Amino acid sequence: MTKPTNKEFEIELKKDRRYSICACGLSARMPYCDSAHRSYNEANDTDYKSIKISVKEDVKITLSSASWTL
Ligand code: FES
Repeated sequence: MTKPTNKEFEIELKKDRRYSICACGLSARMPYCDSAHRSYNEANDTDYKSIKISVKEDVKITLSSASWTL
């Protein structure tokens, strides 16, 4: 992994939809998971998994993570 950044993403979440957020920092569709963590886990014996989010009403949130390497 490369040096993490403090990049933030503001996203809109729609009521009753399920979102998969990247926790590993390798996704090409940040901040959403694109399953890049799977090959990284196999090659490095790690256990990254996406973070699942669903909301009860439409909402806008800001996401950031120290593990994202943008
Ligand atoms: S691509 Fe990062 S958790 Fe899936």
